[in-house]
Amino acid sequence: MDGPALDSTHRYEPGEAGWTPLLLLHGTGGDENDLLPLGRMVAPGAPLLSPRGKVLEGGMPRFFSRLAEGVFDEAEVAARADELADFIEAARDRYGLASPVALGFSNGANIAAAILYRRPRVLAGAILIRAMVTLEAAPREPLDGRPVLVLSGASDPLIPAENAGRLADALERAGGRVSHRTLPAGHGLTQGDVATARDFLAAEFPN
Ligand code: MLT
Repeated sequence: MDGPALDSTHRYEPGEAGWTPLLLLHGTGGDENDLLPLGRMVAPGAPLLSPRGKVLEGGMPRFFSRLAEGVFDEAEVAARADELADFIEAARDRYGLASPVALGFSNGANIAAAILYRRPRVLAGAILIRAMVTLEAAPREPLDGRPVLVLSGASDPLIPAENAGRLADALERAGGRVSHRTLPAGHGLTQGDVATARDFLAAEFPN
C-alpha cells in the first residue's frame, strides 16, 4: 500500500464502513497478533490496528521499560506514549482511519492510559483492562468527554483496587466520561471483560 512508512511492527485488518477503528495494545510478552481475536469479538466490523511493543524485557515485548514490577520510570512512560501517539497519527494517514478507540490489556492498557494523559486527541476513547497509575501528575490536556472504560479484577494480585480507582478518578477529573467496573476476576482476561467491552463499544460507538 502507498503512503508513509510506519516504524512499528504491526498488523492492520480493514473493517467495514461506519465502524470506529480499534487500536489493540497487548500485555507483556504478547505481540501484534494476540488481541486480534478479542478485537473481532468486541467489534466484529471494526478496522483493527495492532502494533507490537518496541521494548524487550527478557525477550518479552512491552510498550515501555520498567524499573521493576509495578515500578515505573515516568520519563520513559511519557516518551513511549508520545512515540506511540505519533505512530497512531502516521497509521491513520497511511490507512485512512478515523481516530481509534484503544483496547489495551495490562501493559497495553497502561500505555493507552499514558496516551490519554499526554495526547488524548489521538484517541476517540479507550478500554483499559487491568490498568494502573504510571504517571503521577494529572493529565496535561483535557479529555473533552472521551468515553473511557476501566476494567479491574477484584482479585488482581498485581493491581491494588485503590490504584485503579486513582487512575479512573484522574481521567474523570481531566474531563473523561469514565466508567470503572470491577469484575470477579484476577489479572487475566475473562468473558466478563469481553462482554462489558462489547456493550461499551455498542453504546458509545454505534455503527
Ligand atoms: C506494567 O508494567 O505495565 C504493569 O506492571 C503490567 C504488566 O505488564 O505486568
